[in-house]
Amino acid sequence: MAPRDTLIRVLGIETSCDETAASVVELRDGSPGILSSIVLSQIEEHAAFGGVVPEIAARAHVEALDGVIEAALTDAGTPLSEIDAVAATAGPGLVGGLIVGLMTAKAIAAAAGKKLIPVNHLEGHALTARLTDGLAFPYLLLLLSGGHTQIVLIRGVGDYQRWATTVDDALGEAFDKTAKLLGLPYPGGPSVERAAQAGDAARFAFPRPMKGAAQPDFSFSGLKTAVRQAATDAAPLSDADVADICASFQAAVSDALADRVARSLARFRQQFAVIEAPVLVVAGGVASNREIRAALDRQCRGFGFRFVAPPAALCTDNAAMIAWAGIERITAGLAETDGFAFAPRSRWPLDEVSAPVVGSGRRGAKA
Ligand code: KG4
Ligand code: ZN
Repeated sequence: MAPRDTLIRVLGIETSCDETAASVVELRDGSPGILSSIVLSQIEEHAAFGGVVPEIAARAHVEALDGVIEAALTDAGTPLSEIDAVAATAGPGLVGGLIVGLMTAKAIAAAAGKKLIPVNHLEGHALTARLTDGLAFPYLLLLLSGGHTQIVLIRGVGDYQRWATTVDDALGEAFDKTAKLLGLPYPGGPSVERAAQAGDAARFAFPRPMKGAAQPDFSFSGLKTAVRQAATDAAPLSDADVADICASFQAAVSDALADRVARSLARFRQQFAVIEAPVLVVAGGVASNREIRAALDRQCRGFGFRFVAPPAALCTDNAAMIAWAGIERITAGLAETDGFAFAPRSRWPLDEVSAPVVGSGRRGAKA
């Protein structure tokens, strides 16, 4: 953390998928604070298509971004002259949206004579728990979003090691596809969770992919196939059938996740035996699912881990996490290079050393 009597304020911009977001975050005498956080969702623009349409997303960012940035500065009561740097998501994500956000950030920073910090969207998710809970390094991050399903060891700012990833679909994608198959509205995750409340989780014995495997990775495509088969067999589907399928699917996911996460909790315990109260942090839209949270919480307690779930608004995509990542980079001395030379990257792994896994999440999809 920064020494006393210091103040750093950063304007964050996020446009990597279907949220146009801007935020002002500060670090005052070592204490972080979110001065404003505006998130404009494009859900309605994409709902008719059952998923995010890149071209529509990019156009919507162009239309909304200036107003969202202005609102963030006004809400924070901070004129641009009192901002130290502009941080913008530079990847991974849909390239059209990334171009809009990064180029706007460059223009603002250049005109106002400020530093420009390109931020990896995944780094934003990874460091959020330090903004909300003041966590110390190292800790484990479980990222459960529409584009990624990963466990990452967070050792320090810019120091990340991926321990597990999906070998096929991302978990959010599995929720979205299940919802689409059952005729439930987009976005699928909340629809499936809602329908599951009235369902019988024991009616369908769906597989728990990779359960018991020594390898720590995730897999969800077999589960998706089993759901499709069950839906075909039970057609035409009544509301009760849909509810039972959703409840059984959610139970299988929670069970499989808890098993997969256990591998990494055990590894962390072994590697960092001196840490008395290790922490697992969840992030991403799927982390707002109550049954999944409960399953992870139980598993963490079993392994002596603290389970940290930042508030839902900071788990899903937002610009406060991007502004915060900018502050972390400044205080760690990692914001010194020329950000203006950085080009958007649709693919940008957090851990650039680990080998890519074939099919690990949707290409170019949101994180
Ligand atoms: O993190 P997020 O808002 O966007 C990115 O992917 O970055 O995550 C969106 C994903 C979607 O796949 C959505 O269906 C899923 O999170 N999701 C949920 C829930 N809320 C959102 N999945 C399961 N249960 C939920 N309550
Ligand atoms: Zn994300």
